[in-house]
Amino acid sequence: MSQVDLGRAPRIEVHESPEALATAIAGELLVRLADAQSAGHEPQIALTGGSIAEAVHRELARLTPSSEVDWSRVVVWWGDERYVAPDSPDRNAGQAQAAFLSAVGTDPAKVHQMPSTADAADVAAGAAAYAELLRAQGAGEFHIVMLGVGPDGHIASLFPGFPQLDVEDEIAVPVTDSPKPPPERISLTFGALNRAASVWFLVSGEEKAPAVARALAEGTDLHDIPAAGVSGSEETIWFLDRAAASQL
Ligand code: 6PG
Repeated sequence: MSQVDLGRAPRIEVHESPEALATAIAGELLVRLADAQSAGHEPQIALTGGSIAEAVHRELARLTPSSEVDWSRVVVWWGDERYVAPDSPDRNAGQAQAAFLSAVGTDPAKVHQMPSTADAADVAAGAAAYAELLRAQGAGEFHIVMLGVGPDGHIASLFPGFPQLDVEDEIAVPVTDSPKPPPERISLTFGALNRAASVWFLVSGEEKAPAVARALAEGTDLHDIPAAGVSGSEETIWFLDRAAASQL
């Protein structure tokens, strides 16, 4: 498979600056979570790593007190993670914990970090364990999956030209030679990421503009631009700043 049927056209939302982008994404997430909870659901979300995600996380901490969200009733997963020591500053989970998860009242039993080097024999075992957890606890479907996008069009730890792009029968896969350091990572697969009602791409910066334009162009092969391979069953939103949108 080299293309997915995007179904409904993706929505594109452009904000003036990276700061305005992060504030808008955090605000929208809080509204969506509160709405899901007031409709009686326990929302399941997948977080991402990367610089704009860090800014979004900080905004979540700032804006949560004025929102209706009960974070103890939100189930948190990750789309990908760096397979490093649990206290490494490279951990996506460590960043999210420090920026907002510890502050907003999440239930630790519902925050499902991907394994670190302390939790698994190797990165392949870590990926298998996370897949098992998702299978057992999950997430028939994520409410919202958030994805940063690299200048090469990667999302999660699915990189252009890599064999993980063609894994169809797994939920999570190991990566041992990531072009973005650190080299060892665990990533959800397209199959798992596409089990989302809503997929949000979070993209900031001029160096991402060509990848954004290619991902949104018709007929782009996901082997070239992995971001072209993910869409939500109900909606797909590209949250961009002006610079990231500059080639659209
Ligand atoms: C990671 C990520 C990765 C990231 C993109 C964008 O673990 O590094 O999950 O997929 O989201 O590389 O990162 P930036 O926003 O820092 O460019």
